[in-house]
Amino acid sequence: MLSIKKVFLFLLAFSLVFALTACGGGSSQGSSASGNTDGIQKLTIKISHVVAENTPKHQGALAMKEYIEKESGGKIKVQVYPNSQLFGDKDEYENLVANNVQFIIPDMAKLVGHEPGFNIPSMPFLFDGDEDAIAFWDGPKGQEIFKRLEKDGVLGLAMWPNGPKQITNNKKPIKKPEDLDGLKFRTQGGQVLEKLYSTLGAGSVSIPFSELYTALQQGTVDGQENTYSNIESKKFDEVQKYLTEMNHTRVDYVLLTNTKFWNSLNEKTKKIIQGGVEAGTKVAREQAAKLNADAKKKIEKNGYVKIHVLTPEEKEAFRKALQPVYDEYTPIIGKDIIDDAMSR
Ligand code: LMR
Repeated sequence: MLSIKKVFLFLLAFSLVFALTACGGGSSQGSSASGNTDGIQKLTIKISHVVAENTPKHQGALAMKEYIEKESGGKIKVQVYPNSQLFGDKDEYENLVANNVQFIIPDMAKLVGHEPGFNIPSMPFLFDGDEDAIAFWDGPKGQEIFKRLEKDGVLGLAMWPNGPKQITNNKKPIKKPEDLDGLKFRTQGGQVLEKLYSTLGAGSVSIPFSELYTALQQGTVDGQENTYSNIESKKFDEVQKYLTEMNHTRVDYVLLTNTKFWNSLNEKTKKIIQGGVEAGTKVAREQAAKLNADAKKKIEKNGYVKIHVLTPEEKEAFRKALQPVYDEYTPIIGKDIIDDAMSR
């Protein structure tokens, strides 16, 4: 009788422990406000970029974080590092390849050493606006360029726009091609930007974004080209005297991930992260033009730089002067790619 009681107590204790274990981490648990988290891998993902918070890139990265953390019920943590805090222009790509960071969103101009197709945003006056650039990169030729990074173990997931670039400098107002003669500019990098400045008689040097404010302040270079939101959020206008609204080249980004990391995700996890990519892309695309317009207003209000907006005639003079860039780089990038971009 006594031993039956013992067996009964043992079975009771066992079933209690079993029930608690099942509730604590098994298939019956995991539902949260945002759904069932069963089968979702526990991960910490890093997103690194070089710009400030008040930019489409950072807003897009935050949207990714919010979506992924919510939809995974907190199983996936996303850490976003802005302002080159984790990696900068010089080392972010290598660290993505090494899987030390899972997402980076570089300016395409910084990828031309890996693939010349990323010179597209630097081709003068190629796109009329964000919509055309998005259509190109979402289209077959843009996607073909993304695919060429697969040789490095890198996957191009989406294009995020920032927008058209404007030229700032410390020496004189720029209204015609000859005004650049003898000036020295910082560029994001790449053969096309170098050619663009040399065609206009100017010098150029590539400097990491994190060092640009100091380079402008100390006169290492006379000027630079960037979007309104990058200029305002990094206070470049504080250390420049003139700004010309050129809209001649663009800052466009590609959201990149590490192929091995991506392939290590199970179906459920990948679906959530893919959803995060879509949410981030939507926000970055929606915010780009708005943030540039807001930044322009702030720069006008600050009053540090004298702003000149190119007239249609002035723009035409630059377009003509920069034709040699097309003559040299159309065969390098590929005529089919340039034609597709021009048709947008
Ligand atoms: C720059 O270096 O000027 C930009 O490419 C920075 C960025 O990522 O927008």
